[in-house]
Amino acid sequence: MRPHRFRPAGALKGRIRVPGDKSISHRSIMLGALAVGETRVTGLLEGEDVLATAAAMRAMGAQVERTGDGAWSVHGVGVGALLQPQGPLDMGNSGTSTRLLMGLVASHPITATFVGDASLSKRPMGRVIDPLSTMGASFEATVSPKGSQTLPLILKGAYPAVPIRYRLPMASAQVKSAILLAGLNTPGITTVVEPIPTRDHSERMLRGFGADLSVETDADGARVISIRGEAELKPQTIEVPGDPSSAAFFIVAALVVPGSEVLIENVGLNPTRAGIVEVLRQMGGSIEELNPREVGGEPVADLLVRHSALKGIAIDPSIVPSMVDEFPALFVAAALADGVTTTTGLEELRVKESDRISVMAAALCAAGATVIEQEDGLVITGTGGEPLAGTAGAIATHLDHRIAMSMAVAGLVSRTGVEVDDVRPIATSFPTFQSMLEGLGA
Ligand code: S3P
Repeated sequence: MRPHRFRPAGALKGRIRVPGDKSISHRSIMLGALAVGETRVTGLLEGEDVLATAAAMRAMGAQVERTGDGAWSVHGVGVGALLQPQGPLDMGNSGTSTRLLMGLVASHPITATFVGDASLSKRPMGRVIDPLSTMGASFEATVSPKGSQTLPLILKGAYPAVPIRYRLPMASAQVKSAILLAGLNTPGITTVVEPIPTRDHSERMLRGFGADLSVETDADGARVISIRGEAELKPQTIEVPGDPSSAAFFIVAALVVPGSEVLIENVGLNPTRAGIVEVLRQMGGSIEELNPREVGGEPVADLLVRHSALKGIAIDPSIVPSMVDEFPALFVAAALADGVTTTTGLEELRVKESDRISVMAAALCAAGATVIEQEDGLVITGTGGEPLAGTAGAIATHLDHRIAMSMAVAGLVSRTGVEVDDVRPIATSFPTFQSMLEGLGA
């Protein structure tokens, strides 16, 4: 464990460039590994989660090499040609690596063992095991004390797999993507019906690599995504935009630390990801979009964020999927806003890297905030801009990078600082977080 106390800060000033988008980085390595020829990626997030994906694709036959800062070259094996990995695939802390790779393996004639850290080993895998079993794959999973299927697990892929039409029972881009990736090597048309839209990076990138993928809307307004297998992917050159989920910590920090003005360059603003910007604006946050453009097929802008007097609001649950990873940061903004912020519809937060509803409730209470935990969200009464008291001891992050970074931001607007029990998990998604914060004067 590496504890750290994040101390109260003066105004944050300057410009930063957050690292590449985690979701897009994973997908660029995976699809590159399935295209014959060389895929070049720039702006790749070199965090532990993405490195776990790179190591797994190497173990299954692809050449994945770092050629410079954020610059990677991938020589793929072709769809259908993944090799049997010789040892277990170590997914570390990464749910995205695990679930998407389970999809890839499910339609190849190979067997793979998936293992992960203590946090990942608690997370439910039944949500991907169910549809991938219907496609023909078989699984031997660990069963948790609560009865859910978890890592470690052994997956035996099926070839040929059977195409399915699957209606997502929860809003999950990982489950959607697992099925679409399995569909790449499945003869026929595999269809995912998505009643609530989630991040669409898989759809965008699969098309970019030349897959035959269509997206329609059915009579009930659900997205119907179909992919034709067996696909042939063409190698691409990909520029990964900055991660809005990483930018979120700095957006909130600049809004809550008095006197701050920060320019965050190159932030991905895909509408399926940008909910946090909209919600913080509804709370009164000053976030200006400069120089809007397209990077790697995704909308991007520079964000100029100025300290603002935030007010509490009731957050519309329909916006949750477009900011599902940003609630820990949003809770910190709410704890410093004027009035009450109510969040609902957050059940999925309980199965992230930690139970982000109860872990954030405990951490914010320990820092002096007023928080009520409910089954599907938090009700937070803010201080109206007054600093939080700060923590006496260390708050527990439960191997969750986003808890650590959110509470780091809370520490900036506290009297005595906020101590985080372990900052090491920050490296899963944002290895340069602490140095960037210091660079802005924190
Ligand atoms: C991700 C999907 C989301 C998100 C995760 C990344 C992805 O998970 O929380 O950080 O890259 O597809 P769910 O599919 O579980 O919502």
